[in-house]
Amino acid sequence: MSEAPQVVVATARGGAIGRGNALPWRLPEDLRRFRALTTGHAVVMGRRTWESIGRPLPGRTSIVVTRDPGWAADGALRAAGLEEGLRLARATHPGQPPMVIGGAQVYALALDLAAMLHVTRIEIDVPDADAFFPAIDPARWREEACEPHVAADGTRFAFQRLARA
Ligand SMILES: NC(=O)c1ccc[n+]([C@@H]2O[C@H](COP(=O)([O-])OP(=O)(O)OC[C@H]3O[C@@H](n4cnc5c(N)ncnc54)[C@H](OP(=O)(O)O)[C@@H]3O)[C@@H](O)[C@H]2O)c1
Repeated sequence: MSEAPQVVVATARGGAIGRGNALPWRLPEDLRRFRALTTGHAVVMGRRTWESIGRPLPGRTSIVVTRDPGWAADGALRAAGLEEGLRLARATHPGQPPMVIGGAQVYALALDLAAMLHVTRIEIDVPDADAFFPAIDPARWREEACEPHVAADGTRFAFQRLARA
């Protein structure tokens, strides 16, 4: 399997991904998909996303990108930047793609390096969102799959997979 990183993200309309350092929605179907895509992999995230999750994700190696050389947390590896995070991911999970799981700052760094994007597109508006996924350029990304679903509460969403064009 390729060791090129893959990105896992859930977006509302307009690319909204967060509000007040938390997810602005509750969508158990997306959390199950996130678990299925990332379990057994190294997950690379920004320090703010680590704080937002609040614990190591079971069955995964948590790698946290921070500029703070003194940063440490039980159950996580520190990386000084995305490239170092990806190196650590490949060292701990050889032959597997590192999964980049956010947030906005780290997605912006990862987009140029990623081979694949796993996007859950949630059909809701988040007017007070304060974190956004970068625009996905259709000239650079090719949709490989898109599965529409309706959540138990009626929310419409789709699991989309894009590969670098
Ligand atoms: N919807 C989704 O799928 C999803 C997924 C993940 C997160 N989120 C949301 O996204 C939001 C958080 O995103 P965010 O952009 O605020 O934070 P973030 O990307 O999670 O973390 C930002 C931090 O990463 C470190 N960092 C960033 N660039 C760096 C670089 N070039 N070198 C070294 N360290 C670097 C810095 O840590 P230091 O300040 O420690 O130096 C920075 O403060 C939250 O609302 C969260 O809920 C949504």
